Formats: sequence, C-alpha cells, structure tokens
Amino acid sequence: MSRQHSRIPNIHRKTEVELEIMREAGRIVAKALAAVGEIIEPGVSTAKIDRLAEQVIVSSGAVPSFKGYHGYPATICADPDDIVVHGIPSEEMILEEGQIFGVDVGAEWNGYHGDAAVTFAVGDISVEKRALMDKTREARDAGIAAAMAGNHLVAISSAVENCVARAGFSIVRDLVGHGIGRAMHEPPQVPNFVEEGQFPEYGLTLRPGHTLAIEPMVNLGTHRITQDADHWTIRTADRLPSAHFEHTIAISRNGPVILTLP
Ligand code: MF3
Ligand code: CO
Repeated sequence: MSRQHSRIPNIHRKTEVELEIMREAGRIVAKALAAVGEIIEPGVSTAKIDRLAEQVIVSSGAVPSFKGYHGYPATICADPDDIVVHGIPSEEMILEEGQIFGVDVGAEWNGYHGDAAVTFAVGDISVEKRALMDKTREARDAGIAAAMAGNHLVAISSAVENCVARAGFSIVRDLVGHGIGRAMHEPPQVPNFVEEGQFPEYGLTLRPGHTLAIEPMVNLGTHRITQDADHWTIRTADRLPSAHFEHTIAISRNGPVILTLP
C-alpha cells in the first residue's frame, strides 16, 4: 500500500476465532498462487493467469480482495520486470522468456482478508534477476522472523532493510506493508526501512493477535518509482527490474505464524 501520514495507532488484536478465519483466507490465497505458479511460462497472457486465480478463489467460497478496491479491475496484480506493483493483467500483457514476474493476490473469506505475493521466473532468467528475487524473499523472511511478540515493529523494518542493504539492492520507500484483517489495509503501516521520525508505528510493541502483511519491494537500481497514466501501474524510475514477496502473518506467543500457506 502507499505510505500515509499516521498517528500512533491502536491495533486490534485478533481472537483465536478470527485467526482461524484468517488462516483459511490465507490458505485460499496460497492455493491461488500455487495454481498460478503451475502455468507460468513464456507466451501465457496475464489475463489467463488472472482468470485462474479468480477461479481458485471463487471455487473456494472466497472473494477476490483486490477486485473493486478503489476501482481496481482485476483479481491479481501482474508485475513483470520493471513493474513494482499494481500492474493490471490483460490479454495484451504476455509473459516473456527471461522475465521475473510478480503476482500479488488477496482473498476475503468470511469477512477477513489474506494477502500474499510471489515473484516467479519466466523460463531462464539472468543471474542478476535470480539474485534480486532470492534476496527479496530472504528479506521478507527476515522481516517475518523479527515479528516476535514483545519486539517493536521497527525490528521488522530493520531486519528487512539490513538484509537488502548488504546485497546492494534498493528498497522501495513510497510503498509499505500493512496491518490486515476485516480490511485488506489496516493500521499499522509496516515500512521496509528505518527512517527516523517518519513512522510512529516503529514504536508499536508487537502483541499476540496482531496480523500483518510483510511485503518488501526490492529494486535492482534506484529505489525511486513512477506511476503510469492508468493511475495503477507502479514502475521503477530507471525501468530496471523489481521483485516483491509478501506473506500475511500473525504474531503469537510462540513466534510468527504465516497465514498465507497451503
Ligand atoms: N498487496 C497489495 C497492497 O497491499 C495489494 C494491492 S491491491 C490493489 O498494496 F487492489 F490495490 F491492487
Ligand atoms: Co499487501
């Protein structure tokens, strides 16, 4: 989500019942991403990928979270190479050999949302793109590992940032992770970097029942981004590739629990 001005938020802690529902929403999202992964190859249209994701979600009794969200027209975001996030799938947008391709999916089940993203390789990809993908997944997982009850939220931001900085890639700063639950975007914002004074959320103490979408967007070149005339598609300013991985997680007494798993 795009970064907002915010006050220190009061964060709803989900009950066990709510967490069970969110686990199911997350399972449906994971199922959609797994199905999509099976058909990723050069020549496939992103519209076809969108239809498959929607079919999995709807046949599971859920509703695509993105469709209709501020007028967004599709079930997935389709994000090849220089598209960072919010690319709109279409019959004309066809996967090409050598691309990295981000797919972002959300599903609402019984009033609660799951949100996750995976970046896939389309055929053989360059060593550089492979490293970018691997590092972005690793950064997401480092952020998740830092999501321990009792930690301040900044521990997540710092873990993600340190992981990416060591590799020499850059982190998108104008988009952040987010709380999630009855709404796809709830407080707190979850920045993927530490910038003193910028986010009151940094000081939030993580507690069991907090549910977060942790989603680093990592660029090969500049961290800067631009928006297309469609008012959705976000690209890297230098048009170099970008990768994106996201999980919805719950904070628990026994450490982070990933909700967007099959
Ligand atoms: N995971 C993306 C986000 O948190 C979902 C975008 S949904 C869209 O921003 F509907 F805005 F495309
Ligand atoms: Co998200």
